[in-house]
Amino acid sequence: MSNSRKVVVIGGTGLIGSKAVAILRNAGHEAVVASPSNGINAFTGEGLDTALTGADAVIDVSNLMSFDAPVIRNFFATSGNNLARAEKAAGVRHHVTLSIVGTDALVQNPYMSGKQAQEETIRASGQDYTIVRATQFYEFLETLADAYAVDDAVKVPDIQFQPIAADDVAAALVKVALAEVRNATIDLAGPDRAAFASVMKDYLDAKGDTRAVSADASLGYFGAPVSEMSLVPAGASLNGKITLADWLIGQSSVKEEEKA
Ligand SMILES: NC(=O)c1ccc[n+]([C@@H]2O[C@H](COP(=O)([O-])OP(=O)(O)OC[C@H]3O[C@@H](n4cnc5c(N)ncnc54)[C@H](OP(=O)(O)O)[C@@H]3O)[C@@H](O)[C@H]2O)c1
Repeated sequence: MSNSRKVVVIGGTGLIGSKAVAILRNAGHEAVVASPSNGINAFTGEGLDTALTGADAVIDVSNLMSFDAPVIRNFFATSGNNLARAEKAAGVRHHVTLSIVGTDALVQNPYMSGKQAQEETIRASGQDYTIVRATQFYEFLETLADAYAVDDAVKVPDIQFQPIAADDVAAALVKVALAEVRNATIDLAGPDRAAFASVMKDYLDAKGDTRAVSADASLGYFGAPVSEMSLVPAGASLNGKITLADWLIGQSSVKEEEKA
């Protein structure tokens, strides 16, 4: 008997979603790439009922980059309600949401407030779920370097940081989705924890970016005040295997291949 399952990846064209789809397909599962560009829209509900027919699990890695709290809260709450309704109607066994470590303590950050609305929606929906809260992706470091740039330097909050590779996030989500429902929230982080400034320095050094990096205790995280452990798991967590150093080597070999 085949162990192949159907898994719908909401946001399946995105950074994490496309990796999750590839992992599922390589393992012999049926993966549906669900995104507005494919006619499947969690916010409007378009195409959901057909996409979910026969699905065992849904992985929600959809995203809307907005720092307007009402807009982002409405996006995640409405999408979450549409997904839960359609999943229950189709008899989907397991819903997995990708959220962010520390979300509930950082809601003064409008985007985090949206993620909180997404989490609350699935918890209240009656659909069986697991929420996976990941730390920042290595792929997000470039955005962070731009966001914290001041003149010719980069100043970041004086906090601990434990970023993770998108490949590890996608692999963990697939594993969680195919496993038993938890109806709980779990944390997922990279293999190494260090000061944010030290991680940023390693990242910029590897890119040949010579800007000075320093920690500034007065800085928050996109509008939310932070303390030393705000962005790292407080207790037990799942952990990725790919270190920042290994990931950076992988990035430079991709660049070399592109040049050749
Ligand atoms: N960046 C980080 O460090 C970090 C850390 C922890 C967690 N996260 C979470 O990770 C998740 C995935 O992030 P990502 O970087 O992979 O996102 P991304 O690359 O920006 O991709 C977003 C995806 O969402 C889809 N989408 C947008 N609106 C949708 C809708 N109405 N219905 C269905 N799909 C929709 C997009 O589809 P189209 O291609 O059709 O537009 C795209 O596939 C986010 O929820 C984010 O909060 C991020």
